[in-house]
Amino acid sequence: MHRFILASRLSAFVVVLLTAVSAQRAHGVVIKVGGASFPSAPYTNAARNFSSENPVTVAYSGSNSGTGQKNAFNGEFQVGASDVPITTSLYGSNGTIIALPAIAGGLVVTYNVPGLPKGLQLKFSRQVLPRIFDGSVSMWNDPLLVADNPSLAEKNAKIIVITRSSGSGSTLFFKKSLKLMDASSKYPSSPYENPKFTFNMNNSVMAATTDSAAVIVGSFPYTLTYLSQNEAAVARASSNGDCSTALAQHLNGDFIPCNLNSLGLAVKNVPQDNIDSLNYNSEGLDTLDVDVPGAYPLTIISNFILRPSEVSSDKAVTVWALKFIWYFISHPEFATSQTFVSLYQTPIGERTLSRISSITQRDEVLYGNSVCDPLPDGSYLHPCVNGFCEDLNPFQDSSAQCTCEYGFGNYDHSDCSEVTPYFAPVWTSYVKYFFMATAVLVVGGMISQLIRMKADPDVKAMSPPCCAFILSGFLLAAISILFHAASPTHGTCVAHIVTASIAFGMVFSMIFLKSIRIYFIFRYTRLARLGIFKDAVLIALASIFAIIDGIIAGIYTQVDKVGPRIQDLAGSSKEVWVCAVESDGEGSSRSTISTLLIVLLAFNGLLVVLCLMAGHLTRSASRKFDESKKIWSMSVMLGLPSDTEAMLNLKNVLFSGTVWLLSILSPIILFGPSLLGSLQTHARESSLGQNTGSIQSGENSDWKTAEVGKSTALLFNVGVKAMKALAIWDTALIILMPDMNMAFIMKSETHIFTKFSRCKVKPVATTTKDAQGTFRLEMVLDKNSDLLEFATKEKMDEFRSIHTQCIVNNNMKREENSGLRKHGSRSVA
Ligand SMILES: *[C@@H]1O[C@H](CO)[C@@H](O)[C@H](O)[C@H]1NC(C)=O
Ligand SMILES: *[C@@H]1O[C@H](CO)[C@@H](O)[C@H](O)[C@H]1NC(C)=O
Ligand SMILES: *[C@@H]1O[C@H](CO)[C@@H](O)[C@H](O)[C@H]1NC(C)=O
Repeated sequence: MHRFILASRLSAFVVVLLTAVSAQRAHGVVIKVGGASFPSAPYTNAARNFSSENPVTVAYSGSNSGTGQKNAFNGEFQVGASDVPITTSLYGSNGTIIALPAIAGGLVVTYNVPGLPKGLQLKFSRQVLPRIFDGSVSMWNDPLLVADNPSLAEKNAKIIVITRSSGSGSTLFFKKSLKLMDASSKYPSSPYENPKFTFNMNNSVMAATTDSAAVIVGSFPYTLTYLSQNEAAVARASSNGDCSTALAQHLNGDFIPCNLNSLGLAVKNVPQDNIDSLNYNSEGLDTLDVDVPGAYPLTIISNFILRPSEVSSDKAVTVWALKFIWYFISHPEFATSQTFVSLYQTPIGERTLSRISSITQRDEVLYGNSVCDPLPDGSYLHPCVNGFCEDLNPFQDSSAQCTCEYGFGNYDHSDCSEVTPYFAPVWTSYVKYFFMATAVLVVGGMISQLIRMKADPDVKAMSPPCCAFILSGFLLAAISILFHAASPTHGTCVAHIVTASIAFGMVFSMIFLKSIRIYFIFRYTRLARLGIFKDAVLIALASIFAIIDGIIAGIYTQVDKVGPRIQDLAGSSKEVWVCAVESDGEGSSRSTISTLLIVLLAFNGLLVVLCLMAGHLTRSASRKFDESKKIWSMSVMLGLPSDTEAMLNLKNVLFSGTVWLLSILSPIILFGPSLLGSLQTHARESSLGQNTGSIQSGENSDWKTAEVGKSTALLFNVGVKAMKALAIWDTALIILMPDMNMAFIMKSETHIFTKFSRCKVKPVATTTKDAQGTFRLEMVLDKNSDLLEFATKEKMDEFRSIHTQCIVNNNMKREENSGLRKHGSRSVA
């Protein structure tokens, strides 16, 4: 019994522990990303989606490229964003921070010339564009411009160039592009060769921010500036229709519009030599002027800035930061929806992904530990055979495996290549087989012993048919463990629930009915004698209960469609197949308990409550009904959360373990002593060759007798008084079952249930005045002694003779059985 109390305390402890563990998990990881404002729209969207899909928060704060570099360098940001080369004067060129290409966009020359035909895009050739920005071409009708754009011939107006500070990312890129154009057109002594050159021509105006540059060019005629493709869209939208974007000239002379297609061509076709010789530690990759036809010549790249030696001191933060970078690059939608170009599945993007794959946390490898870590090109080294990877980002824990389709599992491999056997070779199943086998052995052994010894008085007293019924219930419970151990299929899921329910119904309804019988025998003897409590009646009633239980369980499994379902495990990307009800798509059904399940639980709960009540009614014998208490440890286990793998395994094993303990220990506690006793009695009988001494029920006396099972109970109504000062007389009912050596002493306050031979009974001298003409005995049990007063001398004598008989029988048994049997109370029912 202590073991059960221990078991339930242990489970309660486990529950508390779990709550603590899950509370700890709830602490969110925060990843700080920030810097350049140019890619801030795609980054912000990705940060929002990533945070909602994962148990982390990614916060993007857009400011400028310099802040992105500085904060990545000092650890304030795990991931910086920068459009400009790393300032090596501040951060060194030794790789303390590195620039990793993240997203591509385009620079577009945007202008405002009133009166041009609708839809026309001016063409700025590689020879003319650098000249506009060094002031050599300053009129809209300059012959060099008119050569490519005849419609400008009439525009006799000054070109007003809107520039931005020389430190701005777009100015740096634009100057670099103009330098490349001069180089390709072999322009002598290009001013852009001088890094200090600024756009401060007589016809220029400096705008404070990109936004204001966009507003100015959208509003003022004859202005011209350079903007990123999304800012140009803003400028066009805010203008009266005179603002448009120019075509840029490719190395081959074609004029190319800036769009996703032309930007994509540039990004995909960066020569491998350029990529291989790329120095992440300083410049990164910024402007592209690719010779593939159709590629946009003014393509620019924005970079992530990382401190590779220590992204964060916290491994979880490092892992989530790297996952975020991977997520951003491998989800092109974030870029394309904002008119940017994704680097996914381009040589530059793969270079970035391979670089972050090599990042370690204090020499601990973070990438490639799981089959579900994708390669930079999006494929897998060992793809899932009959399943898929739950988490599409790498840097997964080594335990992460493919999630298998129904019928496949991971036993020796983790790619779902193995067919699920009927009995999966996993440790939880082995433990369950052990439970099942031992339970079947023990319970089966007890049943055979019960049948073999059914004539033994000790066994008879327990009413063997009813006990056999309870034991069969336990046997069925043991068999249900087998269905629980098997891999979830429709059949095993249903069989497990139905067999367990029938077993539950058999055991508890019979325990209930037996305790009710005891109650009626002791309280309403006459009713009890009517025979409504015959074994056959009890078995029939209990069978009805069990069948109803089985039917409810069966209907429940069919209506709620119990079967193999996939369950997510918290804390890992693993999923497992378990028996569960069908979910209605959104996985909501797990939280709503169906009416039928409530009926099933309520029915079984009622049985348990009835057992407890009956146990209370016969509370002197209630030590025999400990099964009722054990139910609580079982329900604690049913309430265990099972969303992590460890918990699921624990619950699995605890569940089978509880059924196992119930089905082994309960019958041992209930029937063990009697069956063991019957073995000994049997041995004695065979050696003595005589019948056991059962006292004839007193047909010739006025004692009440009652049948308890097949044994005889003798009832005595006596007066009783404790042998101590101030005690008063009370009445008591003493029930003796001589052939079981049992006494059940029911006083108004206390009920004692004991071996009769444990009591000492001795006559009392009736010399005192108030005792004249009475028939009294002193009965001592442990430290209590009571004075019993009988109505007649015959009753008193009978009581003494039964007592003597019990002492004799008990001593005979004791002599033979070398003290195997414990002293103390014995079972009644
Ligand atoms: C981002 O989240 C929104 C809203 O939840 C969703 O509609 C969109 O498809 C997600 N984008 C990506 C790329 O996952
Ligand atoms: C690299 O350069 C930075 C900045 O100059 C410096 O703080 C850092 O210690 C250097 N690291 C190594 C490994 O030399
Ligand atoms: C600007 O104008 C002044 C006189 O108005 C002229 O001397 C100077 O050369 C011009 N500068 C450029 C860069 O055109």
